[in-house]
Amino acid sequence: MNTNCVYDLLGENAWVYITTTFVVLWVFVWLYRDSLEIANIGEKYVFVTGCDSGFGNLLCRKLDRKGFHVLAGCLTEKGADELKRVAGPNLKTIPLNVTNPDSIQKAMEWTKKEVGEKGLWGLVNNAGRSVPMGPTEWMKVEDFHSTMKVNINGVIAMTMTFLPLIKKAQGRIVNVSSVLGRVAANGGGYCISKFAVECFSDCLRRDVHYFGIKVCIIEPGFFKTAVTSLEPLERELHRQFSELSPEVQASYGDKYLEKYITVQRLIMNAVCDADLTKVTSCMEHSLTAAYPRSRYSAGWDAKLLWIPLSYMPSWVVDVGLKLVLPRPAKSV
Ligand SMILES: NC(=O)c1ccc[n+]([C@@H]2O[C@H](COP(=O)([O-])OP(=O)(O)OC[C@H]3O[C@@H](n4cnc5c(N)ncnc54)[C@H](OP(=O)(O)O)[C@@H]3O)[C@@H](O)[C@H]2O)c1
Repeated sequence: MNTNCVYDLLGENAWVYITTTFVVLWVFVWLYRDSLEIANIGEKYVFVTGCDSGFGNLLCRKLDRKGFHVLAGCLTEKGADELKRVAGPNLKTIPLNVTNPDSIQKAMEWTKKEVGEKGLWGLVNNAGRSVPMGPTEWMKVEDFHSTMKVNINGVIAMTMTFLPLIKKAQGRIVNVSSVLGRVAANGGGYCISKFAVECFSDCLRRDVHYFGIKVCIIEPGFFKTAVTSLEPLERELHRQFSELSPEVQASYGDKYLEKYITVQRLIMNAVCDADLTKVTSCMEHSLTAAYPRSRYSAGWDAKLLWIPLSYMPSWVVDVGLKLVLPRPAKSV
């Protein structure tokens, strides 16, 4: 190709024009592809875990209104009754504790009967818990496990048990991670479990795409739900501090817990978003788009703070947290 004629036509900024044109075209094609939707929603079944409250509860109601057959796993009878009361006849509930293999097996057998030959279009692994969170030295080994049992062991157990049903429908697995699965900002099992959800989902996506199965990760920022509720977070911090040995307590000092709680309150009140639809819209897109994305970051704090931070060198987060968090009394 004679590049001289390109330069003659566009002048010395030719490559700027060409690159800009490619970028603009790429953006339009991406937006068009991203907006394409699947057909026959009314024939598809979606199973959601942790539907008693928060994102899971809202998602079930939205999918129900959209026409999906919704199978809602609820931890409590009260949560299931309340959800059924506000939903249509195409939403059914089942008791589900994702830490209990018998409960998962029963839910899968029930789902298998419900979906029949169609298979399961979507599995949304949403159930999760956050407490206890706090300084790592304050944790007992069981404190790590109690969170990880729900947030990662539960996700793996649900996925592996339901995979044959998803494979039948060439469906989707949607795993709810967090920005704390990208930036380790808290001690305890929560960040560890969410980093593991990211890893499990990436491995799974790369292994099952051959069978038409898509795997999506939802990375919400901070939202006002039970997971970010201050009362249980603070109750657990008090419990942990009171169970420390006198030497460890003395190394943090009398005022540390109070200051830690004040900082936590300030941050949570400043960043927690009340609009849960920002998260459920991402979940809906992952279930209804013809070409779902591998990752969805939900909320402005996720897009502008946490995800950019996750690409920065470790010292940036180290220094940021050091500036924000209180200093133990006997720090060196
Ligand atoms: N809110 C946020 O800022 C935020 C940010 C990033 C990620 N997330 C993630 O989003 C997901 C949903 O949380 P959410 O914010 O909507 O809080 P949520 O209202 O507490 O929802 C979590 C749900 O999981 C249920 N659950 C807890 N343990 C369970 C178990 N063993 N088996 C089955 N269900 C169980 C809870 O039931 P009970 O209410 O009966 O305990 C609750 O309905 C979680 O995975 C969470 O980690 C939340």
